[in-house]
Formats: sequence, structure tokens, C-alpha cells
Amino acid sequence: MSQSPVMVNPLKEGLKIEQASEPCAMVVLGAHGDLTKRKLVPALFALHQQGLLPPGFCIVGMSRTKMSDDEFRQSMARSIQQFAPEIPFDQSTWERFAAFLYYLPSNFGKEEGLFDLAKLLKELEQRHGTRGNNIFYMATPPSLYGQIVDRLAESGLTQMHPGLKAPWPRIIVEKPFGRDLSSARELDLHIHNSFEEEQVYRIDHYLGKETVQNIMVLRFANGIFEPLWNRQHVDHVQITNAETIGVEGRGGYYEEAGNMRDMIQNHMLQLLSLVAMEPPISLDAEATRDEKTKVLKSMRPFDLKSLKKFAVRGQYGQGFIAGQPVPGYRQEESVSGESKTETFTALKLFIDNWRWADVPFYVRSGKRLGRAITEVAIHFKRAPHRLFSLDADDGGQALGPNALVLQIQPDEGICLKFATKQPGPTTQLRWLSMDFKYGTAFGVRSPSAYERLVHDCIQGDATLFARTDAVDASWSLISPILQEWAQTPCNQFPNYAAGSWGPAESDEMLLADGRAWRII
Ligand code: BG6
Repeated sequence: MSQSPVMVNPLKEGLKIEQASEPCAMVVLGAHGDLTKRKLVPALFALHQQGLLPPGFCIVGMSRTKMSDDEFRQSMARSIQQFAPEIPFDQSTWERFAAFLYYLPSNFGKEEGLFDLAKLLKELEQRHGTRGNNIFYMATPPSLYGQIVDRLAESGLTQMHPGLKAPWPRIIVEKPFGRDLSSARELDLHIHNSFEEEQVYRIDHYLGKETVQNIMVLRFANGIFEPLWNRQHVDHVQITNAETIGVEGRGGYYEEAGNMRDMIQNHMLQLLSLVAMEPPISLDAEATRDEKTKVLKSMRPFDLKSLKKFAVRGQYGQGFIAGQPVPGYRQEESVSGESKTETFTALKLFIDNWRWADVPFYVRSGKRLGRAITEVAIHFKRAPHRLFSLDADDGGQALGPNALVLQIQPDEGICLKFATKQPGPTTQLRWLSMDFKYGTAFGVRSPSAYERLVHDCIQGDATLFARTDAVDASWSLISPILQEWAQTPCNQFPNYAAGSWGPAESDEMLLADGRAWRII
């Protein structure tokens, strides 16, 4: 059994004052899947440990696999220890948690399954005092979302009493939300037939990451950054999401999705909107989401005639990660030997508004890259006049430009790059950085993204969830590229080796602007 680290209450440390959570049941549809065991149940257990679950709470896992409550509980206990070893696991806390954890082996795609669920939820309402409030968590394959929502409605589980705010249903929808603009809109229609927009929580786990939330604090709780955060001072912004892992047994899903749908449409554009948004008038969910959506709506549509200058796609071939040989994407399980799916994307984006006119935002994301890292780097304009000589002994790096790097993962922190004089009789410049590391500064475990987001949904706080208009705006931006790419499959795939930094065209895109990706 591991030693308890100091636990942090995310909400006391977070952006908002804690609100009272109402009693409710959380139903996980697709409870036999990876998400439930790797992320959701560990997050719920950690919340229980911190006393952040409301009184009158219970969890129902539902899927077709036959299992008793006890078998489900045992399997979840093993999963927490295996997938979330950082969460201290002790038997008595676990037993208190397991007492409100249930399993329903039934088919949620069929009417009978949902009637079974409605019956169980009624019983649990009596037993645990959930007051009939229910959260439905879609942890199923995305292709099932629409039909599940319809079945939930048919079984009466999404009904609200006219004029009353409770009992309420809420729904948490995992990404991908649709696979293009029209399917996202269609799914929205299904959902809105039964749920009001404020009952819909489109989850994007990047928004639950501590360092992503810190972007708003850094920008709007400090007076020194915001005056520089605009086209007068910022030369360009780079957002990098690099993974060393491949598709990890998810070849079937990934073949359908590709990097653009898997990472860019959601995580990367959400990150970008937090970096670029105007200060919201309050921390209210709608005020914050209004500003983020405005950014997405201001993004310049891609000129499909010169798409190659703005969008690069790549697919990894075999190579080496940490010195070990790894197969190419086309050799992964459930992937076609002639796959045209992109595992890497680099984009040059513009936000056509007053603050960011003509400032490029370069975004790249890919699997099997040289290092696992996600960061946002704000590159500032160079000093207007060059006083110091060019031959600094660091290959010219000391000539800048200054960069403020928000390190999202794995070493969460912030660092500011600037030039200094090296000690000595001559004026030699050295490029240094001022570093802040979350781990050393606070010395506590950061809550997982799912802990934060599940807790927010229980509290009815949708700030960190994607609103319908934001999802619409992000699909509007990228659907035309997806269409164009589908019509003109890339014949050069694979075009980067595993362990490299993506295809040469990604570097060339920046080089054409006289810039380069930051060396990480
Ligand atoms: C998921 C994607 O949403 O995010 C995965 O489906 C990706 O393909 C993962 O690996 C990355 O998340 P994180 O938190 O590890 O950066």
C-alpha cells in the first residue's frame, strides 16, 4: 500500500469558489471499456477520498458483459491500483466507495436495457437518496451516442418536470463529437431533443488539466503578461503536442479518426482558444465560453487552393523511440497496409481579430515523435535594435527571440527565455530561462483532468466543457481540410520516421515564414 501524498482540493486551489453539489447517480454507459477503468473510476475514487462527492451519490456501470456488482467492484479495485498508482488505495476507503458502486449487465442500445436502468435508478434513489438526479456518461463508441440518447428519452429518463429545476438529467459526452460539421450538428439535434444545452457536458480532458486551467490564471490574475499578449509584441505562437506512443491497440478507431479529428478539432483548438481569448467579464461558464467561442469563430478559413502552405499531414513509418525499434503506423494492429490516415498534423492558423491580426499560430500534433511533450510557446518580437554582436557562442540563440513557454505536460510549468551576459571580461550573451515547475513549487499531487471535470459536472459547472457553438466553429474550420484531404489522399505516406519531429514539410512551412519550430 502506498504512502498518502498530500491531497489537494482542486476547487479550493482552482478558479472558483466551491458550490454545493446536489445528490445524484452517475451512470457510466460502456462501463466495460478502457475509459471507465483507466480514467473514470479512478477519478471518482479520488474524489471520494477527498470528500468531494456529494452525500446521496451512487455510481452505476452499465454494459452488456455479464458481471455481478461484486465482480465489477473487484475489477475496478484492481484497475485503480493498476492505472492510477498515484492515488493512495486503502481498504477501508475502498469499501466505503464500493458500497455505492453498482453494475447493470444490460444493453443500453435496446429499450429493455433502459427500462432495467430506469428501474435500478428508482431503487437507488430510495437507497441512497439521489433525489432522481442522474448524470449519464457516454463512455461508449461515439457511433452509438445518437441512438443511446434516443433510447434514454424513450425510457423517460431524460424527462424534466415542467417548471421544476429538479430532478435533473445531465449528459457527459466524450469526444469525438461527430466526425465532421454535419455529423456533429446531427448529434447535437439528437441531444437537444432531450437535453437543454446547460445539461450537456461535452468533455475535453485537456480543459481539465491543471496547467491548461493555469493559462487563464497566468493571463488574467497577473498584470504583467496581458499588456504584451497581442500583435504589438507577439511575433507568433507555437503549440506543440508530441506523443512518443503510437496508436496503442486503437488502430480501428484511429483509422477512422486520424490526428486531425483525434487531437486538433478538440484538444488543440480548445487550448488555442484559451491562449488567444479576450478576458471574460466573469468566471461564469457562459462568459468564459463566449470568449473562447469568439476566437474559434474568428479563425481565418483555409484557402483550399494553397492548402499546402497552411496544413501539413504526416504518417509515421518505422523508426526508433528511446533507442528501441518500433513499427510504422501501417504495421499496427487493425490498420490497413495502405492506410492514408494522418498521424501528424501541422497547421498555420490566423485569428482575424483586433488583437491577433496577422500573428500566425502554428499548431503541430503527432504520434511517435521525438519526445512526449505538450506546450504553448509565445514567441515575442525581437528587440527593435541590435546592440550586441551576432557571434554569441551559442550558435546565435542568444539573439532571441524571447519566448514564454507554458509547459502543459509532462513537466508542468512555465518558463521565460531571455538573454543574459555571461560572466567574463567580454560581452558574450547567453540564452537562459526562468523556470517555474508545478511539482517543485507545490509538492502536491495535481488532480487528474477527469477528477476535475467529473466533479465540475456533478456541481453543474460547465465552464470547462465545450459548448455547442464552439464545437460547431471548430468543425467549420477543419471540415473543409478533411474533405480536401479525403479527396486527395497523400501518396507519400509514410513520410516521417518514428522518433523524428514529423515530415520535412512541417519545418518547411515555418521556414517559408523565416521561422522554425522551437527545439524541444
Ligand atoms: C486522446 C486521444 O483524446 O488524447 C489520444 O484520443 C491521445 O489519441 C490522448 O493519445 C492524449 O492525451 P494526453 O492527456 O495523454 O495528452
